[in-house]
Amino acid sequence: MKKLKLIAIVLSVPFFAALIFRTQPTAAQTQTTPPQTQVETAGQKFKNIKVLNDMPADQLGKVMNLMSASLGVKCSFCHIVDEWAKDDKKEKGTAREMMKMTLEINKGHFEGKTEVTCATCHGGREHPLSVPNLMPPAPEERPAQPAVKPTMDQILDKYVAASGGAAALQKITSRTIKANRVEPNGKTTEPEMLYFKGNKYALSTTYPKATVTEAFDGTNAWKRSDTGPIALTSDQAEQVKREAELFDPANLKNVFIKMDFRFVDRIDGREVYFVTASTAAGVRERLYFDAETGFLVRRSSATPTVFGFFVYQVDYSDYKDFGGVKLPATIKYSMPNIRWTRQILEVKNNAAVDDAKFAEPK
Ligand code: HEC
Ligand code: HEC
Repeated sequence: MKKLKLIAIVLSVPFFAALIFRTQPTAAQTQTTPPQTQVETAGQKFKNIKVLNDMPADQLGKVMNLMSASLGVKCSFCHIVDEWAKDDKKEKGTAREMMKMTLEINKGHFEGKTEVTCATCHGGREHPLSVPNLMPPAPEERPAQPAVKPTMDQILDKYVAASGGAAALQKITSRTIKANRVEPNGKTTEPEMLYFKGNKYALSTTYPKATVTEAFDGTNAWKRSDTGPIALTSDQAEQVKREAELFDPANLKNVFIKMDFRFVDRIDGREVYFVTASTAAGVRERLYFDAETGFLVRRSSATPTVFGFFVYQVDYSDYKDFGGVKLPATIKYSMPNIRWTRQILEVKNNAAVDDAKFAEPK
């Protein structure tokens, strides 16, 4: 653990959590579909589990981040960092009681469905409000809906045209991107290199003490740091694959076999077409296209846990011309308790990319 401790001091918690939650890699773990039998439980994998015994072990990281985000606190509110199994903070004990209460409310009042979560009461606060807010925020009104709904073909064609057009996009078969990963404090940045080629993708992020690489080799997604492999949960592997699949905006209709326009919504004051989409494997996502410019501005998916959905959201903005095609120069990643932004610095279209970049080191 000594090495991990050193890394933890200089790296963000999410990355550290990824190390803690890492397991010995198996062939099954690098595939995008989890094995259906013999799911390891949190009780089996972790040392001091008293409430979440039967929960799949790979939900633990998500649940810890969901609880932190629901209360607006850091891991250290309940834990002494690095001593996760110890019970030396009273808040950890309170949290166990709260977990039991939440599970009982759902079992006793909502037919066992995850309706009430930590966020329902806490809403980002340590202490839930017990009196109504006297200055409630004005309800968000849905924008006026178009008399004739746009078709999916119109929405997708507009996105392709905005991105530079099918002909220009088709000419690009590989790409390298130099970027910065900007941490939520806005000051800490880590250099990143991204590689795309056909249906393959790799990203390496250079932290002060370690380099972390994630990639999709055309079949499997994998992730590792200098200290060894980092297990990806099936939803994480799916998102790594998605980075590869969305290289070409024209590929969207191959990735999502079913897409439906739902209604005109608003993001940051701008009207957007809200679309629900599902892949052949049944993975569902939400897509949002700017109604005026046509660009994809948001994409999100949600993974269920015992304490509610773990939402994964990507916001694309600041679309700029990079060699005849437009790319979002700013990409924001948000999950409960985890956030970072990618700032694109330099793009090389049709750059030579060695296939070795995508292969998982043995
Ligand atoms: C609101 C309190 C709370 C917060 C915040 C919280 N945890 Fe926990 N954590 C718990 C509780 C309670 C358990 C034990 C669950 C049980 O007994 O079923 C636990 C268990 C764990 C375990 C398993 C330890 C073991 O081996 O038994 C790890 C690892 C962990 N937490 C990491 C984290 C990380 C990383 C964060 C921040 C992202 C975090 N926790 C945030 C309350 C919290
Ligand atoms: C039905 C509403 C409700 C739900 C659901 C709920 N809580 Fe609470 N929680 C409360 C109330 C009320 C308090 C007491 C607030 C106070 O002391 O001001 C509290 C207090 C706490 C505290 C102690 C805070 C402190 O500063 O000492 C922790 C920790 C906590 N909750 C964690 C959780 C976690 C984790 C979940 C989800 C597993 C959860 N709660 C779900 C209502 C709820």
